[in-house]
Amino acid sequence: MSTTTTQPQQIAEEGQPAVRTTRTYRRFALSQQIEHGLVILAFVTLALTGLPQKYAGAAWAEAMIGLFGGIERTRLIHHYTAILLMLEAVYHIVAVGYRVFVRHVGLTMLPSLMDVRDAWQTLLYNLGLARQRPQMGRYTFEEKVEYWSLVWGTIIMIVTGFMMWNPIATARFLPGQFIPAAKAAHGGEALLAVLAIIIWHMYHVHLRHFNKSMWTGSLTEEEMIHEHPLELADLKAGVAVRPVDRATLRKRQAVYFPIAGVVAAILLLGVYYFVTFEQTAVATAPEAERAPVYVPQTPTPLPTTAPTPTAAPVARLTWVDFAGPLFQQKCSKCHGTIMGLSFATYADALKGSQNGPVIVPGDANASKLVVVQSTGTHPGQLSGDELAKIKEWIQQGAPEK
Ligand code: HEC
Repeated sequence: MSTTTTQPQQIAEEGQPAVRTTRTYRRFALSQQIEHGLVILAFVTLALTGLPQKYAGAAWAEAMIGLFGGIERTRLIHHYTAILLMLEAVYHIVAVGYRVFVRHVGLTMLPSLMDVRDAWQTLLYNLGLARQRPQMGRYTFEEKVEYWSLVWGTIIMIVTGFMMWNPIATARFLPGQFIPAAKAAHGGEALLAVLAIIIWHMYHVHLRHFNKSMWTGSLTEEEMIHEHPLELADLKAGVAVRPVDRATLRKRQAVYFPIAGVVAAILLLGVYYFVTFEQTAVATAPEAERAPVYVPQTPTPLPTTAPTPTAAPVARLTWVDFAGPLFQQKCSKCHGTIMGLSFATYADALKGSQNGPVIVPGDANASKLVVVQSTGTHPGQLSGDELAKIKEWIQQGAPEK
């Protein structure tokens, strides 16, 4: 894109034999090199702080989160780096616009049919089925794939990042399931991006041929012949650079700068909106414990249990269901013989002892059984609860069933 700055430089050193050509071609402007550096910084930091969150259960992830100073700090670093990357993206849009609209540099990064052909021929060449690598121009198809992957990936990360950063806002216009879905997409795209850098970038930029142009800003003629022969031919023919005179440049700038200013302002507002929209943003993370917690005033009613055939019947206050079994368990050891009082049957219980009835249906306080048990000192003693229920049973007329 910075073809306009291409300036052949002579860097031949004195006394060095001119076996190899020493001419170099300016490929990237300093501003682009800085952009590249920023993207490296943001990308690496985001990956280092993001992947441990994706794999939070793993021991290595826990160790890394500890290294960053805990989960809250890890999230903060991740969020601030995301802001850096978004600002860089805004700058990039403005800078590309400047090159295209002011300097009238062609859209050299746009994919074309040629790229499909180049990719196919490269595949054949790698398989030994073609004699030579395709001749490529300003940007090879490998470079375009990488650039557009970065653009696409950044858009995905910004959209899904927004959804996780502002879940309440998201749930206002999308179903709630989109938030966990955004989380899955965010993590998946992150993994894809890291693997793409390790495999695609590493191979094409560092292994196949160590391309240092992002750091030096230029390529040697030899490298140009290998990597960008079509661009080199254009440069030599003088058609790669479209010179602009000062007056025209001024005129275009006068149109571009105000428009770019408005666009940049809108984008920056978008970033501001993104970061400050909700209380879940950066600042809240460490203060989570102090955040007010809303508890409903009336407890949420529990769902009523539907009667099921296997459910045990609720014990009712009758002789059969309650009093009989209780007396037989707690009193029959002795009564059956002692004082002619027996609890073997309902009739026995109502008949009473040799002194007469001990249960007066409908009047618990008049029942001797209650009087005896109320002393709390009977050799066979009912608990307070059990006695209360027995009283209730008698009060209700001591029903058998
Ligand atoms: C360890 C033996 C023992 C157990 C168990 C026992 N009782 Fe008694 N109960 C006695 C004795 C002995 C008497 C007679 C002397 C007394 O009143 O203390 C008696 C007397 C009574 C009387 C008075 C009868 C009357 O007409 O004077 C009642 C009523 C009574 N028991 C109720 C119960 C009940 C109800 C239970 C079970 C919760 C129970 N007992 C458990 C030993 C026991």
